[in-house]
Amino acid sequence: MDTFGIDIGGSGIKAAPVNLTTGELASPRYRLPTPDQAKPKDVARVVEQVVKHFDWKGSIGCGFPAAIRNGVALTAANVDHSWINTNIDQLFGEVTHCPVHVINDADAAGLAEMAFGVGKGKEKGVVFMVTVGTGLGTALFVDGHLVPNTELGHIEIRGKDAERRASDAARQRKNLTWEAWADKFNEYLQHIERLFYPDLVIIGGGASKEFSRYASAINIRAQVVPAQLLNNAGIVGAALAAEKGE
Ligand code: BGC
Repeated sequence: MDTFGIDIGGSGIKAAPVNLTTGELASPRYRLPTPDQAKPKDVARVVEQVVKHFDWKGSIGCGFPAAIRNGVALTAANVDHSWINTNIDQLFGEVTHCPVHVINDADAAGLAEMAFGVGKGKEKGVVFMVTVGTGLGTALFVDGHLVPNTELGHIEIRGKDAERRASDAARQRKNLTWEAWADKFNEYLQHIERLFYPDLVIIGGGASKEFSRYASAINIRAQVVPAQLLNNAGIVGAALAAEKGE
């Protein structure tokens, strides 16, 4: 059976029905731009459109770039502040007339990688996934179980929020070469290693496609691998979360 997945990002809202047996999209994904300022009501309207596009009726999972507890956004690092305390399950449920289950976007991508990607079969130990994009999103798995909402992209390094130094947006904003950015990203991973000693580190988000450009600069003990599902991890993981109620 298919479940519907939506991935809400800073520039686009992507969606597709997902076959949860194979982890593949059941139809080609549909993407609409994220509205300017991305206020809750405007985003809800776009969510309504992407669901209508597929004429979907059934449960919906959604990844959103904030800490989420029981469907409610608790933070708003890269989105409008009015999201804080918004019950997103309810807001999107009202416009789509479907049951909606929202989780953190990096948690969604991590769930997908653990089920269908490079984390498949890693049932023992600690896996740390970091999505490198507008922000630094993180997902932590202990013996295959997700510890939700870790928000470890916001640890402080050299007196600054880590994602301000080492996200892909920071690389672009500061016009850094891959080498210069890789130094900062490596320092970030070294901090994470000193806190969690993961067995495996998965690099996701847009920067996972460029892994070969900076892999040699990464110097930590853990095995470091790029994500496998690339663009669709967020959609697939959101659908999985709706199915499993994670
Ligand atoms: C947010 C996280 C999110 C990450 C990636 C961070 O700024 O705090 O909740 O997972 O960006 O989108």
